[in-house]
Amino acid sequence: MTYRIAPSILSANFGKLGEEVQSVVAAGADLVHFDVMDNHYVPNLTVGPLVCEAIRPLTKAPIDVHLMVKPVDRIIPDFAKAGANIISFHPEASEHIDRTIGLIKDQGCKAGLVFNPATPLDYLDHVLDKIDLVLIMSVNPGFGGQKFIAEALNKLRMARGRIAASGRDIWLEVDGGVRIDNIADVARAGADTFVAGSAIFGTTNYKATISAMRAELGKLKD
Ligand code: DX5
Ligand code: ZN
Repeated sequence: MTYRIAPSILSANFGKLGEEVQSVVAAGADLVHFDVMDNHYVPNLTVGPLVCEAIRPLTKAPIDVHLMVKPVDRIIPDFAKAGANIISFHPEASEHIDRTIGLIKDQGCKAGLVFNPATPLDYLDHVLDKIDLVLIMSVNPGFGGQKFIAEALNKLRMARGRIAASGRDIWLEVDGGVRIDNIADVARAGADTFVAGSAIFGTTNYKATISAMRAELGKLKD
């Protein structure tokens, strides 16, 4: 099993964002998780394609764009041009989910579908053959620093089952409240890609924190 750590820059110091991105990648991050909020689909407002474009030259790490915006389609080409590698969206925010997936793929990006805590996995029924990533929200989207919702573990197990049955190489990402002390349980439930915002950027030594997360994951391999 390949595990990936995806620090969410939502909890970074935006006064020195470029430096933060470089530090966290140097500390061992596999992806840069980029939370886009519109004060409409979620009650918070963050950053758009301009900021994605600004950090793109600073790292070779894939940029994992998590769109919490409604509507989604119009902004997708802008993020692709800004250097996004993965673009994920919430099915409730798209009028035509299959079309939105197609738009992302046409732009040469990997496509992900995101499930809020109360959103059933049924949206996967007819598109699992087209997506590259399933993202399970373990908090309600909008803010960093919230508590992990335990039911997400059941949903991860269900999503892992669906992915295994598909036979496709689909990443299973989890987002919200992931920390050193629960990452092993989250991995046991089936996640392979771990978003962590406050748990990483809220510490002073990113390398020590990411290494501690990896050490927890390492214990699972026996
Ligand atoms: C929440 C965002 C998350 C957030 C996670 O809507 O999608 O990516 O940054 O933050 P933590 O890890 O602090 O829960
Ligand atoms: Zn996110």
